[in-house]
Amino acid sequence: MKNIKKITDDLYYIGCNDRRIELFENVYPVCDGVSYNTYFLKDDKTVLFDTIDKHVAEQFFENLEYLLQGKPLDYLFLHHLEPDHGALIKEVIEKYPGVKIVANAKIKQMLYQFFEFDIDIESNFHIVKEGDTIKTGKHEFTFLMAPMVHWPEVMVSYDKTDMVLFSADAFGSFGALSGNIFDDEVNFHEKISEYRRYYSNIVGKYGQQVNMLLNKAKNLEIEMICPLHGLIIRKHIAKMFEKYILWANYLPEEKSVLIAYASVYGGTQNAAEVLSYKLSDLGVKNMKMYDVSKTHRSFILSDAFKYSHIVIASTTYNNGVFVNMEHFISDIIKHNLQNRTYAIIENGSWACNCGNSIQDMLSQLKGSNFIENKLTIKSSIKREQEADIENLAKEIKKSIDDLQGKN
Ligand code: FEO
Repeated sequence: MKNIKKITDDLYYIGCNDRRIELFENVYPVCDGVSYNTYFLKDDKTVLFDTIDKHVAEQFFENLEYLLQGKPLDYLFLHHLEPDHGALIKEVIEKYPGVKIVANAKIKQMLYQFFEFDIDIESNFHIVKEGDTIKTGKHEFTFLMAPMVHWPEVMVSYDKTDMVLFSADAFGSFGALSGNIFDDEVNFHEKISEYRRYYSNIVGKYGQQVNMLLNKAKNLEIEMICPLHGLIIRKHIAKMFEKYILWANYLPEEKSVLIAYASVYGGTQNAAEVLSYKLSDLGVKNMKMYDVSKTHRSFILSDAFKYSHIVIASTTYNNGVFVNMEHFISDIIKHNLQNRTYAIIENGSWACNCGNSIQDMLSQLKGSNFIENKLTIKSSIKREQEADIENLAKEIKKSIDDLQGKN
């Protein structure tokens, strides 16, 4: 049976949820699943906005056919070719061979990369560039290029008539939808962490390109954002822009401490825990601590985007940084996280070698600062090191206070 939600008089949500999926992009755990959003406009012309992941094809086609009521599809707007949205493009075109494919030149090129078509579709293309417009009847659309948000071909479209931004992956989130498709129908505040995890892991590397899109979008009057994943945003548009500006510029939301530790037999964990109590005694609030071997690093990276200060506490392993900590640090670097202050605790039972390696790795990133004194422990922290760990806590607290003083 069809599974459709009306958004406005003529715009429909025909997206589908996947709650069986374990790993989004075969990397990111999604315990609440994911939604693949597609939209359908019934104007003088009919418009389908992107397709969907192949795992939900049956429901998608049922929805589409129900809305078309036997009529042909006039337009297929393509914003992004990643297969979670583009998997069914070939089927849609072959089913509706007269459809106009609205795409930019890069999308067209990549379409032939993904598919071999049995029919000639050259004449189906309507290629658009930045600022071009298309009228579908009552509605008029314009197009903004958004390369690397999150692939090079991405563009977004803006319905000037109803002031709706079809934002592709931007402003999306992990998590399947639960009947409520609008941000004002849920406790949106609780959802922010998954928006952040989605942003930081999927597009976090491309802050500069996200900023370019934000600069274009800020000139638009936007009543509603329709992303390709997650809720339709109509109440918290300003809030989302505020978050995106912070994230795209690698500015922390929380002036506090994220502690990430790698511990084999508990010595490094204990040092991290002792430090956290010292920080708490000094008045540092809302800290977050993770064992990098336990929590998937997509969650820790997300909090690295949130927090101003990051403590890296690692045991030495294979004469270097512990493997799971090395993966986490590599994730921070690959996602280009900037402007963070790091404190380092290194541990080693015979050769304690990882602290300098950690600092060297993180120094590659623009705006990395380091609390001057590393804490070095041999197997376990000793009573005579209490003053050292207190001093480390004081230096971190001072650095937080300095940051607060600047803003
Ligand atoms: Fe949801 Fe970049 O695809």
